Amino acid sequence: MATSKRPLQRLLSRVCREARRTYGVLPQGHGHDPSFSQHLINLEYEYSAHNYHPVPIVFSKAKGSCIWDPEGNKYLDFLSAYSAVNQGHCHPRIMKALQEQAEKLTLSSRAFYNDRFPVFAEHLTNMFGYDMVLPMNTGAEGVETALKLARKWGYEKKKIPIDEAIIISCCGCFHGRTLAAISMSCDNEATRGFGPLLSGHLKVDFGDVVSLEKSFREQGDRIAGFLFEPIQGEAGVIIPPDGYLKSVRDLCSKYNVLMIADEIQTGLARTGKMLACDWEQVRPDVVILGKALGGGVIPVSAVLADKDVMLCIRPGEHGSTFGGNPLASAVAIASLDVIKEEGLAERSYHLGKELRHQLLKVQQQFPDIIKEVRGRGLFNAVEFNSKTLSPVSAYDICLKLKERGVLAKPTHDTIVRLTPPLSISSDELQEGSKTLHEVLELDLPKMKAAKPEKMPIASTTCDRCGRNQ
Ligand SMILES: Cc1ncc(COP(=O)(O)O)c(C=O)c1O
Repeated sequence: MATSKRPLQRLLSRVCREARRTYGVLPQGHGHDPSFSQHLINLEYEYSAHNYHPVPIVFSKAKGSCIWDPEGNKYLDFLSAYSAVNQGHCHPRIMKALQEQAEKLTLSSRAFYNDRFPVFAEHLTNMFGYDMVLPMNTGAEGVETALKLARKWGYEKKKIPIDEAIIISCCGCFHGRTLAAISMSCDNEATRGFGPLLSGHLKVDFGDVVSLEKSFREQGDRIAGFLFEPIQGEAGVIIPPDGYLKSVRDLCSKYNVLMIADEIQTGLARTGKMLACDWEQVRPDVVILGKALGGGVIPVSAVLADKDVMLCIRPGEHGSTFGGNPLASAVAIASLDVIKEEGLAERSYHLGKELRHQLLKVQQQFPDIIKEVRGRGLFNAVEFNSKTLSPVSAYDICLKLKERGVLAKPTHDTIVRLTPPLSISSDELQEGSKTLHEVLELDLPKMKAAKPEKMPIASTTCDRCGRNQ
């Protein structure tokens, strides 16, 4: 009982309570003790699972393409939370929608109707030209939904024998972290230690229509869907050969297989078109959207399909407590309006060209170091030559970019993704390229001299399909 606590215990618990209070509070304003960010990083390390390896910068405030840390240092965002912030951080129109809706109604669950979701559903389906939407929250849930939908369609419409449906996915594509999503991936790190993975699944090489057709020919009667990223994002902005999307469309139609495009990262103007599939004027049977649909504010994902597919799912068979909630719906409507009205797809298209032009100039100055500059719209990557970069890694380059005020994310050991908010200005883009140049010119030689020579990285083979990773 509290009254029987001894004085020392009471004193200790008061001290602990006070300590927790002060530690949890972020000091206001600029010019804090520079160790405050480090303190927060330590707190996270101590109290949060170690499931990420972040670049050590603490976000405290953001606007448009700019981020501030608690000490008041300003950075340019060249990741956009993996394309979830296409509209720019804290876009005023999206924030207004969030605030207004938050004061009125935030959740009904789908046990009842609410006055925002139907409007969002009409808006989204009209915008992308599909009959219906199934709303979820995270991207992985969207993928999960598309897979269930494809299986259900396979049994009901294609008459695949029960429990024998197969989904094909691509080696190297990323679809999220749930068990179904990792079952679709080929990444030892993501899959090792998490088996048994989902059955009813085959892999083909990304960009390889010959093996896709071979699988369709051999197993066609049991294949419900082909799930793919139109451009691989997490793999390092890998663009398939020209004509790939059209060929996939033709093959899916020929063999009666659902073409399922995971546009969670590539969609919503990121690649310079509303969908990356628009680059080849291809209409998938199922489109999965996420990330920027929530305007960088709350998780909103959606699966789009026509009635003959979508109505295979009936009441009680799938859903989510928060999917289609009024707050998410209001935010998503505003997020879509911003993309459309600010012409973010066109902006991404033109600024992407500008950025690659600048990066190619950097490559000309460091031809041994930069192997390739590639991208579509503002979805870009710089790939370094592993031999000449070694013992330095892409992560080390990102650390130096950060020290010079630019935030970017490494992929594998040799790739840096450059995917700023689509609202970024030309000057800010230029700043990013200039900073990369400075890192390669001024920091790289010092980093190489300071780092011990690394053993060459042995290429690993995928546990699942035997391909080199
Ligand atoms: C193509 C793709 N699909 C699915 C996902 C999973 O989305 P989420 O992290 O919101 O679950 C991601 C996330 O990066 C992605 O890039």
